[in-house]
Amino acid sequence: MKKYFISVALVAFMAACGGSDSTEKKDEAAAAPAKVDVTQTPEYKAGLALIAKNDCLTCHKTAEKLVGPAYLDVSNKYAGVDTAVAYLSHKVIAGGSGVWGSLAMTPHAAVSQADAEAMVKYILLLKDAQ
Ligand code: HEC
Repeated sequence: MKKYFISVALVAFMAACGGSDSTEKKDEAAAAPAKVDVTQTPEYKAGLALIAKNDCLTCHKTAEKLVGPAYLDVSNKYAGVDTAVAYLSHKVIAGGSGVWGSLAMTPHAAVSQADAEAMVKYILLLKDAQ
């Protein structure tokens, strides 16, 4: 009787192990670096819509230099820079020159800080969008 009890307990134990094994595998699959399509994120879409609504595209293109630098180049230049959103959103509102050449970006005093940050966040995502 005791033996029977032990083997039942063993079978139950093994079944439990089997169970947890398969959930571990599922967890691993979920944790695997899934390739996120940044172009589908709300941040990307909101910033892109604001850029289209403002005058940005008269001087900027995504992948080629126009009057101003290509947004892709801006994205690569400031990759990993903690202060990029604060610095670039201020620059969009204040305008200025000297970083990419002697041509100046016109100030955008009518653009709110929040909108400038949203546009900059979109620009910074471009390096991951290919
Ligand atoms: C009149 C043309 C013009 C317009 C309009 C314009 N830009 Fe620019 N932009 C430039 C130029 C020129 C530069 C390079 C400035 C420099 O070298 O410091 C630039 C630089 C930038 C940079 C990089 C700044 C840096 O210091 O690295 C960002 C980000 C940017 N523009 C975003 C925008 C956004 C967003 C808009 C729309 C709200 C916009 N630009 C509209 C001409 C323009």
